[in-house]
Amino acid sequence: MIVTTKELFKAAYGKFAVGAYNINNMEQTLGLFRGNLDSEAPFIIQISRGARTYADKRMLEAIIQAADEIFPEAIFAVHLDHGDLETCMDCIQSGFYSSVMIDASSKPLSENIAVTHQVVAAAHARGISVEAELGQLGGVEEHVQVDEKNANLTNPAEAEAFVKESGCDSLAVAIGTSHGAYKFSGHQGLHLDVAAEIQKRLPGFPLVMHGSSSVPEEEVARINAAGGDIKGAKGVDENEFARAVPLGVTKVNIDTDGRLVWTRVHREFFRDHPEKFDLRDPGKIFIAEYAKFIEHKNEKLGSAGMLEPVRKAVAG
Ligand code: G3H
Ligand code: 13P
Ligand code: ZN
Repeated sequence: MIVTTKELFKAAYGKFAVGAYNINNMEQTLGLFRGNLDSEAPFIIQISRGARTYADKRMLEAIIQAADEIFPEAIFAVHLDHGDLETCMDCIQSGFYSSVMIDASSKPLSENIAVTHQVVAAAHARGISVEAELGQLGGVEEHVQVDEKNANLTNPAEAEAFVKESGCDSLAVAIGTSHGAYKFSGHQGLHLDVAAEIQKRLPGFPLVMHGSSSVPEEEVARINAAGGDIKGAKGVDENEFARAVPLGVTKVNIDTDGRLVWTRVHREFFRDHPEKFDLRDPGKIFIAEYAKFIEHKNEKLGSAGMLEPVRKAVAG
C-alpha cells in the first residue's frame, strides 16, 4: 500500500525513523520489499534523477507497481530523491509518487524558499508530501560536488523561517553527514546539538538525515579482498540513529551501503566462480543479502516491528 511520507512521519515522530532506500533495478526492489516485510517495517522507496534516467522512469514505476501487488502487506511511500523543479512537477503530475524532495539547497535562501513553495503548492493540491533541504552536506549530491570544508550546517533560526515560509512537510538538515562512501576522514560524528536546536524551534516537525550510510569497514575489506579498490572512510555510526530519533529525525536516507552490498556479492561471486556467467546466480544471492541488510538497518532505526502499528495509524 502506497502512503505519503507525511502519514508515515505522523506515526513515527519521536519513536522511530523510517528507512529511505534508493532503488535502481528489480533486484534491489525485491530485496527491499522482502527485507522490510521480514522485519515488519514500513519504509520509503527513493528514486533519484539518476535512477530515472538509468532504468527509465516508467520501468521503475512498473517494477514498484508489481512489487506492491506481489507484497500486498507492505506499507511504503514512493519518493523522488533530490529533485529539481522540473522533475518534481513531472512526478507530481505522474500521479504515482506520494512524496517528492525539492533540493534547492545550493541556491540562495530566498530562491530556495520560492522554488520550494512552488512545489508545495502543486504537490499539496494532489495530496503529495514535500521534503525540502536547507544547509549543505559534503560529498556528491546529484552531480554537484561539495567539499567537506564548504558544507554548511543548517542554521536553526533559518530552518524555522524556511519551514514557515515554504510550507514543506519535512526538512533535510545538514548535521555533519555527507553523501557517498568517503565521509568522515577522522573522528567527526553527528552534530546532534544542531538537531536539538532545530527541534526546539520546530517541535514535532519531521527532520531528514541524508548521507546516513555507515560504510562498514568489514564490507569495504571484503570488496577489496575480492579485487576492489575502495578507499573507504568512516560513515555514520548506526548506534547514533537511536540518539537522533528523539530529536525529530524521522527519515534516514541510505543508498551507498546498499551499493556496497551489491559490489561485495558480485565481486566475491565471480572471484569464487570464474566459470559462471548466469546473471541470476549472483542475482539470487544479492536479493537475499540485500534483504538481510535492510532488516539490520531497520533494527537500528527502530522501524522493525512497526508495520502493524503504522497500518492502524494510517487506517484510523
Ligand atoms: O544522494 C544521492 C543518492 O545516493 C542517489 O545517488 O544520484 O547516483 O542515483 P544517484
Ligand atoms: P548515502 O550516500 O550515505 O547512502 O546517502 C544517501 C542519500 O542521502 C540519498 O539521498
Ligand atoms: Zn541525499
